[in-house]
Amino acid sequence: MKASNLIKVNETNFEFHLTNKSISYVFRVLENSKQLEHLYYGKNIHHSSSFDYLIERESRPANNLYEDNHTSSFEHTKQEYPSFGTTDFREPAFLIKNPAGDKITHFAYEDYTVLEGKPKIEGLPATYTELDSEAETLCIHLKDIYTDLKLNLYYTIYKDHPVITRRSEFINVGSQNHFLESAMSMSIDFPEDNFELLHLNGAWARENHVSREPLTVGKKSLSSARGASGPVNNPFLALVREETTEHSGEAYGFSFVYSGNFKAQVEVNTYNVSRVMMGINPFNFSWKLEPNETFSTPEVVMVYSDKGLNKMSQTYHNLYRSRLARGKWRDTDRPILINSWEATYYDFNEDKILDIAKQSAELGIELFVLDDGWFGQRDTDDGSLGNWTVDKRKLPNGLNVLSEKIHDLGMKFGLWFEPEMVSKDTKIFKENPNWVIHVPGKNVSHGRNQYILDFSNPDVVNNLFNQMDNILSDVKIEYIKWDMNRYISEAYSSHLNADRQGELFHRYILGVYSLFERLQEKYPDILFESCAGGGGRFDPGMLYYSPQIWASDDTDAIERLKIQYGTSMVYPLSSIGSHVSEIPNHQVGRNTPIETRANVAFFGTFGYELDITKLSSEEKNIVSEQIAFFKKYRTLIHSGNFYRLKSPFNSNEVGWMVVSQNRTEALIGYYQVLSQPNAPYERLKLKGLDENKKYKVSPGNEIRYGNDLENIGLLFSQNNHKRKSSYWSQNNKSDFNSRILHIEEV
Ligand code: GLA
Repeated sequence: MKASNLIKVNETNFEFHLTNKSISYVFRVLENSKQLEHLYYGKNIHHSSSFDYLIERESRPANNLYEDNHTSSFEHTKQEYPSFGTTDFREPAFLIKNPAGDKITHFAYEDYTVLEGKPKIEGLPATYTELDSEAETLCIHLKDIYTDLKLNLYYTIYKDHPVITRRSEFINVGSQNHFLESAMSMSIDFPEDNFELLHLNGAWARENHVSREPLTVGKKSLSSARGASGPVNNPFLALVREETTEHSGEAYGFSFVYSGNFKAQVEVNTYNVSRVMMGINPFNFSWKLEPNETFSTPEVVMVYSDKGLNKMSQTYHNLYRSRLARGKWRDTDRPILINSWEATYYDFNEDKILDIAKQSAELGIELFVLDDGWFGQRDTDDGSLGNWTVDKRKLPNGLNVLSEKIHDLGMKFGLWFEPEMVSKDTKIFKENPNWVIHVPGKNVSHGRNQYILDFSNPDVVNNLFNQMDNILSDVKIEYIKWDMNRYISEAYSSHLNADRQGELFHRYILGVYSLFERLQEKYPDILFESCAGGGGRFDPGMLYYSPQIWASDDTDAIERLKIQYGTSMVYPLSSIGSHVSEIPNHQVGRNTPIETRANVAFFGTFGYELDITKLSSEEKNIVSEQIAFFKKYRTLIHSGNFYRLKSPFNSNEVGWMVVSQNRTEALIGYYQVLSQPNAPYERLKLKGLDENKKYKVSPGNEIRYGNDLENIGLLFSQNNHKRKSSYWSQNNKSDFNSRILHIEEV
């Protein structure tokens, strides 16, 4: 046995045990075929010099690999990275078309390496380490016994997080081409089906709603084939126990660090085995692997929690905000912004913008974001995308002067781009028809009157880099909102040969990542916020490039309860773009109090998206208090631990809170959707406090012990006879009421 901190190898029986203080992951090399058998993943177990006791083997009437052997069926062996075509008929982790046309491979173990820290994946976003001591990486080297293909499986285990990341790498060391038809990032066979599946799904304006259902025999696939991770399914799933709640029970999370087409699937067979796999969607995918080429899959981040969903989420939050998000803004307080979109849409001029900016600055807002409509001649959504030059009709003095004037007001300046798109009325479209994704001679569908640039073509990426660079090198810009408002159809690239068309979707997203890389290398101080018609590309891949992401075009406070609650399942509050907008709400027509709109938006990256000049002086006073409040607490909100307390998916009341890492301070958000007559008393039981510490609860200044607040909770009653006994304000007879409470150790 070789001693290592986190990766223990039983050299004689070829067993690998990745373990830290919370988790264990065990697999081995099979004696006969030298393929990999999965043995265990879950709560940490003691290391043993032999994990023989985890092997399940029985003679079965099945296809078996070897003659005179009835226990060599992969249908009955838990696997690490299953192949297809021999003895397992379930969906495999990969599929390769060999030069002869067959799809049979046999990747046999050769050796392994252990690395301190975590190697980068060329061209792809991934979690990282800052110090090598934060993690160890195991790489298992396998080789196809029939061809010159090699396969590397990477496993990184973090020291202080219950996290293992996985990915794979195919290398062609031969002289002939192979075609990858599927290359998932990971697969795991759980020896039971006693789980429920939890996932996030939705659509435009109702992203990341939480669904949960028992597993049954068969396959359940969550996927995207639209060229972005999309709003329909988030690239995430969790297996949880029937009894798992927010705060107790097991949860296994799987999150994909990728922004393109993905598949996340659970397949349960009739032997109660649950196979989870995640990776690039094999549908419509193929990759020509030429001699000396390597194909790297993106990574999957696996989190284990034995303390419920909330602990799983906190693990993702901690890891993603500190070891996925990067750059200056990772740890810097995010500016409170005002965005022009719902304030003016396309209809603005310099005076109007400066008017909004001036009044925003007076109220304490720190960043002005000029959204869509500043370039070309864009008065509606039917033109000018791809012509990233300022519209002198609206801004006759140009962006430079506007930016200077905004800076003179003491604000930062931000700008909206939609780099991946093009409109028909632009030079770039007319001069380069083949830069548009479409099949020559066949109809091309539009989305919002726009077409998609072929980001698999480096010339296209160059063009966009140059156009954006022209502006960024000239104008003082501290923030970019990178939008993407339609999905890829008629997927075909004039840049790729016929036998490489299956590569388009992946190459497209690699092109998007490369443009981010180039811009960020040259402009490391710019804060990026990504967006895709709201939360249509809210995924860990984007989080690597933009520490905040616009969560939804739906800015209604009540709708946002669900969207932000669901988004927090994986993503930290510091990533969730959330704004106060005007009423009636532009998406749903609802009138909610301005207090509630802010009380929801505080639990994200806070900002405003309305015409602030139209607010009454009373409303402006409220706004200025909200801004002062957020400035005071944003560090707590963005660096604390988030606890979901009451779910909008099954309750009229919603509660959540964020607790400082040292548990001396907390903020609680409590929301009532509809007012009810003669309602029961509601108690909100808190979480994450130190049970023996005394805390002051404000408003009210009541002093309570942590365990009292956790076990008894705060009383919210409808009619407030005794001021001190309820945490509602005096009059709670209204819909959409809300309350923020502050808790501080005394
Ligand atoms: C998308 C975004 C919005 C806004 C508009 C502008 O819908 O999600 O926030 O930027 O585009 O066209």
